[in-house]
Amino acid sequence: MDELKKIAGVTAAQYVKDGMTVGLGTGSTAYFFVEEIGRRVKEEGLSVVGVTTSSQTTAQAESLGIPLKSADDIDVIDVTVDGADEVDPNFNGIKGGGGALLMEKIVATPTKDYIWVVDESKLVDTLGAFKLPVEVVQYGSERLLRVFEAKGYKPAFRQVNGKRFVTDMGNFIIDLDLGKIADADALANELDHTVGVVEHGLFNGMVNKVIVAGKDGVQILESDK
Ligand code: A5P
Repeated sequence: MDELKKIAGVTAAQYVKDGMTVGLGTGSTAYFFVEEIGRRVKEEGLSVVGVTTSSQTTAQAESLGIPLKSADDIDVIDVTVDGADEVDPNFNGIKGGGGALLMEKIVATPTKDYIWVVDESKLVDTLGAFKLPVEVVQYGSERLLRVFEAKGYKPAFRQVNGKRFVTDMGNFIIDLDLGKIADADALANELDHTVGVVEHGLFNGMVNKVIVAGKDGVQILESDK
């Protein structure tokens, strides 16, 4: 599996050219993309500025000597490469398995060429088998959990080592066990309008290309939007 992730990550690096501002994704697949950019900076003198999507990726990029800027200091990102937890045929997807969805969406939004790198196990017909991460403000989050429960969303606070997971932005994550999401746009709209929700892991129609590494090679799916 790691080999497929590496192939996807390294393939995506071909879209990065000298002088670009580059969004650096989070997770075990994006990791290989960031490593490849670091290699090119060091060995080929590639000149780029990175914008990271988590403290984890910041640490990785710094260790590789990739120059960084904050999302506060850029207006446009040329290309961002990130992983995804599920991708459907309409280029909708779930992200946030690693808890970085808020920073990931902040970096994805001003990106001209937004690329996901996945292994073939991430392709699904309908989203929802992967639990949908929802980032919520801590204050009032117990009540919000009960609201989601009443809607039948089977919510649970994300825990790490027996403690509630706190995101890089200081919030909690509630994972929704939805099974199948019948209408991803309707659910995204509902969550966008739920007070206390900071962001959710539905990234609908945002991605331009999905680089899929499988046993039979690499496939590049391009959205026509
Ligand atoms: C991080 O919060 C996530 O959105 C990741 O990008 C996503 O979970 C994919 O991660 P992997 O490549 O490790 O599966």
